[in-house]
Amino acid sequence: MNNVEPATILQMDKESYIRLSAYITNVYGIKLPPAKKAMLESRLGKKVKQLGMNSYKEFLDYIFSDQGKKKELLNVIDLVTTNKTDFLREPLHFQFLKDVLLPGYVHKAGLRNIKIWSAACSTGEEPYSLIMALEEFKRKNIGFEYSLSASDISIRAIQAAHRGIYTLERIDTIPVEWKRLYFLKSKDTTRRLVRVKPAYRNKITYKRINLVADVYGVTQESMDIIFCRNVLIYFDKATQEQVIRKLTACLKPGGILFLGHSESTMGMDVSLKQIKPTIYQRPYASA
Ligand SMILES: C[S@@+](CC[C@H](N)C(=O)[O-])C[C@H]1O[C@@H](n2cnc3c(N)ncnc32)[C@H](O)[C@@H]1O
Repeated sequence: MNNVEPATILQMDKESYIRLSAYITNVYGIKLPPAKKAMLESRLGKKVKQLGMNSYKEFLDYIFSDQGKKKELLNVIDLVTTNKTDFLREPLHFQFLKDVLLPGYVHKAGLRNIKIWSAACSTGEEPYSLIMALEEFKRKNIGFEYSLSASDISIRAIQAAHRGIYTLERIDTIPVEWKRLYFLKSKDTTRRLVRVKPAYRNKITYKRINLVADVYGVTQESMDIIFCRNVLIYFDKATQEQVIRKLTACLKPGGILFLGHSESTMGMDVSLKQIKPTIYQRPYASA
């Protein structure tokens, strides 16, 4: 027998829970119904203790103070967001991109610079999956070019994406040929890590964008393709509709929006035409 006490989870009082969840929902759109209280406690408890505090009231007073806003508030959203993702998640999207969409663009408009945005890129698996699909098309269509930007609300996730370091297990789903082309193995074989080759890491431009903000800092009608997958599920229906409208405004006429497997525009008043389940097109302007 040893005398180690089990770690106790700091309980959040009702008032603090209401204050914090209202803030997260208002600023970031993320719904936090009461069932999520335990999740918040387990994710934030360590942070509260690290700051030497004994209650959520003290913690919230601090993060909403002038000093806390500068030092800690942004870290809180890093702890609240769910960054679950995978390489080649929903593989049909990447097949459709390289086998149908890109050949269609080239046929219609010639080899030009296609602009793509991964709008909730998490730790990078989605933009790097896009790179692999785009590069395969590029190898077969000399002269084809693209620009890829990626954004998320979580700074920690963006930093991980930028580093491009993953465990060997994370890249299991990637075909062997693509692993060889796009990743370097760690020299230290005990670490079982890989890193995206610098030439491909440098192809992505990162930005912190809150999809719920009024302004994204993305030029209207500038994007050919937007991937915004598995993030709308965290928002309520009205917020989802507002976000989809803003994303649509960023698409060129004829541009394509990819949503996650359980997301859709059903029941929304948006100017998008469904071309496949979870794939939508902004109509071309009529003459
Ligand atoms: C579950 S991950 C999805 C990642 C990737 N798109 C995929 O499908 O695998 C959801 C991502 O959305 C981000 N997110 C949540 N709220 C956001 C907001 N208001 N604006 C921008 N990104 C947000 C989270 O930080 C997280 O990285």
